Amino acid sequence: MIKDAGLGLRRSFLYDIYDYDIKPNWFEIAPENWIKRGGPILKQFEKIRSDFPIACHGLSLSIGSPDPLDFKFLEELKQFLDYYQIDIYSEHLSFSMEGGKRFYDLLPLPFTKNMAEFVSEKIMQVQDYLKRPLILENISYYLTLEEEISELEFINYILEKTGAYLLLDVNNVYVNAVNHGYDPKDFIKNIKLDRVKYMHIAGHLDYKEDLLVDTHGEKVKDDVWDLLEFTLDLTGNVPVLLERDNNIPPYQEILEEYKKLESIIKKVQEKHARI
Ligand SMILES: [Fe+2]
Repeated sequence: MIKDAGLGLRRSFLYDIYDYDIKPNWFEIAPENWIKRGGPILKQFEKIRSDFPIACHGLSLSIGSPDPLDFKFLEELKQFLDYYQIDIYSEHLSFSMEGGKRFYDLLPLPFTKNMAEFVSEKIMQVQDYLKRPLILENISYYLTLEEEISELEFINYILEKTGAYLLLDVNNVYVNAVNHGYDPKDFIKNIKLDRVKYMHIAGHLDYKEDLLVDTHGEKVKDDVWDLLEFTLDLTGNVPVLLERDNNIPPYQEILEEYKKLESIIKKVQEKHARI
């Protein structure tokens, strides 16, 4: 079971994690990177899987796409999740494919009632097929396609309708709040916190005063650590994962940030224990 702090597993430090006394409680992987893998690298993954809880965070489901679901992919995914006994499968509440063409970015869905209904049906199909709840991540976005209802209403409606859980990415909330001019704490206070299965924290780039770019290639900024603490205060004990996908430093440096994440979680736990 995942708990407290976790770390996104990267190939660059796949062979380093047993060399340090500090070990993350759990790791997150992209199943697409492992489904067709073999050889020594898969052996190392299997060793890690036998020693640590693993969460899967998918990249290619494109749940909001107008295209039908790719059941060949879902079959491979289900086999992988079942074989490695992984219960946690999260994906982005976005689309990255249309008419069979795949984009490089995760694009936001139009925040409309029709889209909320449409994507909810697809989510329920995926949940039925995988025999697991989907855990949906709030993405960072730089444009809105349509906003008949707010993003908050959109997400909350889908969670309610489908029984899916939320992967609350605190950095994405912060980046969106600056870029689109709203209060990140208001957003967090009003999202369905009782549906949060786990959280993400990551770094972003300060491109301009009013434009942040969600790079996952920098250290986590102080404002985002503060927002995480604020959120944990409201959610109580929810697992949090440190993501670092680009510009990946040596493992020792990642562990320094991981230790900071652990210390914040511990601080909030101690505070709650006193209340
Ligand atoms: Fe994330």
